[in-house]
Amino acid sequence: MAVQINPSILSADFARLADEAKAVEGADWLHVDVMDNHFVPNLTLGVPVVESLARATDTPLDCHLMIEAPDRWAPQYVEAGASSVTFHVEAAAAPVRLAREIRAKGARASMALKPATPIEPYEDLLPELDMVLIMTVEPGFGGQAFLDIMLPKIRRTRELITKRGLELWLQVDGGVSASTIERCADAGADVLVAGSAVYGASDPAEAVRALRTQAEAATAKASWACDHGTKGT
Ligand code: DX5
Ligand code: ZN
Repeated sequence: MAVQINPSILSADFARLADEAKAVEGADWLHVDVMDNHFVPNLTLGVPVVESLARATDTPLDCHLMIEAPDRWAPQYVEAGASSVTFHVEAAAAPVRLAREIRAKGARASMALKPATPIEPYEDLLPELDMVLIMTVEPGFGGQAFLDIMLPKIRRTRELITKRGLELWLQVDGGVSASTIERCADAGADVLVAGSAVYGASDPAEAVRALRTQAEAATAKASWACDHGTKGT
């Protein structure tokens, strides 16, 4: 599968979200960070803003819910117009039921793991999901330094996906930039979230293009993509 670049609007100007969405046209998805000040120590936006943003842009919305009780709230983000909804497995009471509900409502279902959460206990859930998100910072804030120590988890997750022959996307989020994106792609990530590296750039659309070029080149050389039959595609 081709590399996808998802700018995170956490680093955008919240008073100009429609314009900020347009500034990254050419991106595959807009990554929307929902924080409730309970699951993470920060507060951002909720369902009404997602509803408005979905009307304001043609770019599909990838909602990353850093909230308590996602079982209760995640379906509302599908109804608000999100095309992909990610819940944190640490917060979900019934992740299989929740993933099925998100899919039944018509969105892609994705499960996120904080840095200290291992993938192995969740291997059997993978067929229920469309994407796994490996956090490469502690969730809560943009602009943090990339955690290199997550690279082995990205590799192990890619191996599980390959072993089971799944069409699952592998997203990384946190500290992804020109200096870290190649390591992410080499380790097996194919959906790359970037906040400050895109919206902190003088030309956000150009930053998306440059990150994509780097990630595609790293993927073409990566052993996982070669084994998977996607080398050079
Ligand atoms: C952090 C968020 C990220 C954040 C990434 O909790 O989930 O999506 O926006 O920002 P950067 O790319 O600046 O680390
Ligand atoms: Zn995020």
